Amino acid sequence: TVIRRADYTPPAFLIDSVALEFDLAPARTIVRNTMRVRRNPDAAPAPHLELLGEALEVLGARLDGAPHGAVRAHEHGLTVENVPEAFELTLESACAPDQNTTLSGLYVSSGNFFTQCEAEGFRRITYFLDRPDVMASYTVTLRADKAAYPVLLSNGNLVDSGDLPDGRHFAQWEDPFRKPSYLFALVAGKLVAIEEQITTGSGKEKLLQVWVEPADLDKTRHAMDSLIHSIRWDEQRFGLKLDLDRFMIVAVGDFNMGAMENKGLNIFNTKYVLANPETATDTDFANIESVVGHEYFHNWTGNRVTCRDWFQLSLKEGLTVFRDQEFSADMAAGDDVASTARAVKRIEDVRVLRQLQFAEDAGPMAHPVRPESYVEINNFYTMTVYEKGSEVVRMYQTLFGRDGFRKGMDLYFKRHDGQAVTCDDFRHAMADANGRDLAQFERWYSQAGTPRVSVRTAYDAAARRYTVTLAQGYGDASPAARETQQGPLLIPFAIGLIGRDGRDLPLRLDGEAAASGTTRVLDITDTEQTFTFVDVPEQPLPSLLRNFSSPVIVEYDYSDDDLAFLLAHDSDPFNRWEAGQRLATRALLTLAARAAANEPLTLGENFIAAFRRVLTDANLSPAFRELALTLPSETYLADQMAEADPAAVHRARQFVRRQLATALRADWLAAYEQHQTPGAYEPTPEASGRRALKNLALAYLAELDDPADAVRVASAQYDASNNMTDRAAALGALLSAAAAGANEPAEHALDDFYRRFEKEALVIDKWFAMQAAQRGTPAQPTLAKVRKLLAHPAFNLKNPNRARSLIFSFCAANPAQFHAADGSGYAFWAEQVLALDAINPQVAARLARSLELWRRFTPALRDRMRDALEQVAAGAKSRDVREIVEKALA
Ligand code: ARG
Ligand code: ZN
Repeated sequence: TVIRRADYTPPAFLIDSVALEFDLAPARTIVRNTMRVRRNPDAAPAPHLELLGEALEVLGARLDGAPHGAVRAHEHGLTVENVPEAFELTLESACAPDQNTTLSGLYVSSGNFFTQCEAEGFRRITYFLDRPDVMASYTVTLRADKAAYPVLLSNGNLVDSGDLPDGRHFAQWEDPFRKPSYLFALVAGKLVAIEEQITTGSGKEKLLQVWVEPADLDKTRHAMDSLIHSIRWDEQRFGLKLDLDRFMIVAVGDFNMGAMENKGLNIFNTKYVLANPETATDTDFANIESVVGHEYFHNWTGNRVTCRDWFQLSLKEGLTVFRDQEFSADMAAGDDVASTARAVKRIEDVRVLRQLQFAEDAGPMAHPVRPESYVEINNFYTMTVYEKGSEVVRMYQTLFGRDGFRKGMDLYFKRHDGQAVTCDDFRHAMADANGRDLAQFERWYSQAGTPRVSVRTAYDAAARRYTVTLAQGYGDASPAARETQQGPLLIPFAIGLIGRDGRDLPLRLDGEAAASGTTRVLDITDTEQTFTFVDVPEQPLPSLLRNFSSPVIVEYDYSDDDLAFLLAHDSDPFNRWEAGQRLATRALLTLAARAAANEPLTLGENFIAAFRRVLTDANLSPAFRELALTLPSETYLADQMAEADPAAVHRARQFVRRQLATALRADWLAAYEQHQTPGAYEPTPEASGRRALKNLALAYLAELDDPADAVRVASAQYDASNNMTDRAAALGALLSAAAAGANEPAEHALDDFYRRFEKEALVIDKWFAMQAAQRGTPAQPTLAKVRKLLAHPAFNLKNPNRARSLIFSFCAANPAQFHAADGSGYAFWAEQVLALDAINPQVAARLARSLELWRRFTPALRDRMRDALEQVAAGAKSRDVREIVEKALA
């Protein structure tokens, strides 16, 4: 059944308080749930109380203390008949945590208990009004065997604990804030914590804990530091204080997503907590900082103010992603608004948006930031809701400045603290705080598809006028997107004009008294609009959509020379990078077309010269150079073709990599030597930027026809490295060199890596992932290797991280091998989706999405993809997977 936003109605009953008692045992946990329920005065009266429940066994019901027979369990929950205006309802039920492979609700991981309730997991724990607009006060009592489960945690404050007969013990927790059920959490087991006491702005002492399995205690420092930085940052930037006396993070090895913001008890995938220099890369360190921030920031944007219904998911997710992006940028760059560290973060975020969200928007799963309908809400934790949603929030800040944005946030909390609200409420707070009508801005929430802004310019030398005409539309959007599109958007479009000397020209729009500034944000509101700059002394080169001021595609006919000039001179570092990417995309797509037609490939000298200039420009930060010298990904390139041809893209991109490796060999070697980071490992932006450029140089060297240099350098780096960034990069280079024939060093390093890190699950994930993403050869296709690894004793389909490391890395991160012409990749995909469907529908549905753009591929691939999709459609049981494949085939 389809759930529609338009069908929202308030709940017929409200639950004011809930007392939960758990008798925890892996095979059978008993839950007693006592709720204070009353009819909602603002809702239509309902005959019965309808509670939601799933995979539960009812053991008993009492109404106001007396046994109540009028309860009926059914497929979706429990109907309680004959209920008065207000009453106390006690329900007892049982569930089986150790059989719960869905990892939604209450489950067991490495012998410990964990919960995951968002979006609809609480109903797998007890019968409830499991919807975010029902907010209750929670008291939780946990009882369990003391030896097996010495630690018992839940939301809020610990109010009581003690021993019980038969070696059991208990703990009682009280959450001082009302919350929706999706924020409930409990954890029980053998865990240890690092702790810190901090004093917040208000002078109150707070206890911070990071809980992990005992063997992982040496990998918690960075998460704790990230938490402390997050707390300080939210106070400084938004005036938002930690509202609890105790804040806990717990790491779990089996987890569907990244992490979860349960009130006061955040539960994290180990991948986003555990790090030390030997086990985690620079990227891991950065991701941990950002996810710890994200979950902490949810305490205000998500928990204190939550969503009325799941269509409003971006209200908390888009806003919280924006906040975590700003946090990471401030951590990297401090107050320096112009720093390249800030631009580096922006480029990384935009790259993700364009590769993944733009693709989503072009296919059958296209949906607005605020979706209109869904079959399974878990399928809507998407790039659109999160990443495009964060771009929509960023546009308010672009329109109103940091101060105006802050005013809007302040008003939002003043109006809505303690409430469950909508995306409209947020927009109205921004509008009212800044005295601006934002009615048109709602279209960013209601329209799917990626907007396109096409730009025309004209210079009148005699009149010294430069006109810029901006036209917006959606191009030929997918049917799913087209049906949502109603009219033009309000697009903040940042622009600069660059003179012949490479310097920005001062900007003066027609009608203004004087020039001011060199970057201007033009507000586009119509389908087509012309802006005229006056006093323009010479024909300028426009720098368009600086810092990616809105999530759109810009169409402008730059010549190759224009792009090379922008790459060398634009004062906006984002657009310098962008110019290089456009130049490379253009060259690569031309080459891919030739490769598809079996024509010979050549690369122009200008292209190589532009790359050499970036590589050797010591004025550019190493981190920026690494981004600028990284070619657009194969997936992104294939998406830009009229008919996606992954094999042709792969040949073209490999050709360019080899050309750059050969032509710049001496420069790569020099860059490698110049960007060493001797001494103790530090995950700072500077040091990680140096490592990134050095390891990119190594990766290019590994493309040389004669891999001897790369093997020598990579082997030495592998042996000498004191950190995972360098060790993994060295192993990666050896795996590339293996494709050129140097098999033995790669095999040797792979064995060493496995033995060295056998006990570190997250590192073994990397070991699987690197092999699945390896370039294959006709003699050794990667799929053969992947199939062999499925049988490896360390492989386990039930562990999402491990499944992702092997299966997703092959199906989503190795397009050339996955899209093999014989369809073998698709057959493998179908098998694995069906296997996962029976274990964990959420993870299965994510994997199912790797074929959703099938209609965009070459005819031969398209047919094979359709066969595989039909096979999954015929065999899949879960609502999650069915929604994805049915939408793909529709
Ligand atoms: N709210 C979590 C976060 O973004 C993600 C939870 C996702 N859960 C799910 N079942 N899809 O931090
Ligand atoms: Zn979130």
